[in-house]
Amino acid sequence: MKIVKEFENLESRSIGFVPTMGALHDGHRELLKRGRAENELLVLSIFVNPTQFLEGEDFSKYPRTLEEDIKIAKEIGVDILFLPDVETLYSGDEVSILAPKIRGFILEGKGRVGHFNGVLQVVLKLFNIVKPHKAYFGKKDAQQLILIESMVKNLFLDIEIVPVDIVRDFDGVALSSRNRYLSKEERKLAIKIPKALTTGETLLKSGNSLQSTKRAMLSALEDLEIGYVEIRDRNLNLLQKFEKENTIILIAVKVGKTRLIDNIWL
Ligand code: PAJ
Repeated sequence: MKIVKEFENLESRSIGFVPTMGALHDGHRELLKRGRAENELLVLSIFVNPTQFLEGEDFSKYPRTLEEDIKIAKEIGVDILFLPDVETLYSGDEVSILAPKIRGFILEGKGRVGHFNGVLQVVLKLFNIVKPHKAYFGKKDAQQLILIESMVKNLFLDIEIVPVDIVRDFDGVALSSRNRYLSKEERKLAIKIPKALTTGETLLKSGNSLQSTKRAMLSALEDLEIGYVEIRDRNLNLLQKFEKENTIILIAVKVGKTRLIDNIWL
């Protein structure tokens, strides 16, 4: 495996790309395995992107576990590990990219105003540097995935975005680098999140209204500080009623000081 701080794409082989912020877990591993199986060359980037963190968020304490990450990357057979410096990617007074005015500023984008501008900015830069044929994103960050798919379409980028299913812990909690922040008790409380999602799934599939489903989910999440519980279509538009194969339930809650998101695609 090559580890590089600067990247030059001289490849004629098919390139699969997995962008991450490191602190790799089995969710990232799943993306990498798919990328390994489907491409001749597999590129992983690790970059904790400052522009997607808001003032006061966890940028400086975001987990950084490079040695462990390198082991995982080697084990899976990553060909190139790209570790750019901030100065390589950003130059100060820059052309900017704006997330869609509606879908970029609801859900995660409502509490974290400007977050998706930063995500799209860095992903576009990374795409232009790595020039992948396929890029892998988890459904765990549903809104991010949908906005990246929109960017690819809107800007006519020649990249296939591959969505990857959410990887969960033994008790259903979605894996996340931020789970490391949870105390033992908080980690136990977090189980309420996937439980609320499966409650939502059961209720919608058995014909309950969106409103009553949402109410039941809110009570399944009692004791947690709720950011949002929303039922939307797969383009993030509001729904009038459950539509099979076109519905996502999205949850954001705070467990202690840690903000967690999860969702289910129905
Ligand atoms: P990060 O949080 O490191 O996530 C990298 C990729 O792993 C994302 O596509 C995310 O959806 C996926 N992922 C995380 N947890 C997962 C899980 N439990 N199951 C499946 N996939 C999972 O998302 C980012 O980094 C950044 O915003 C980035 C796109 C790299 C831009 O900076």
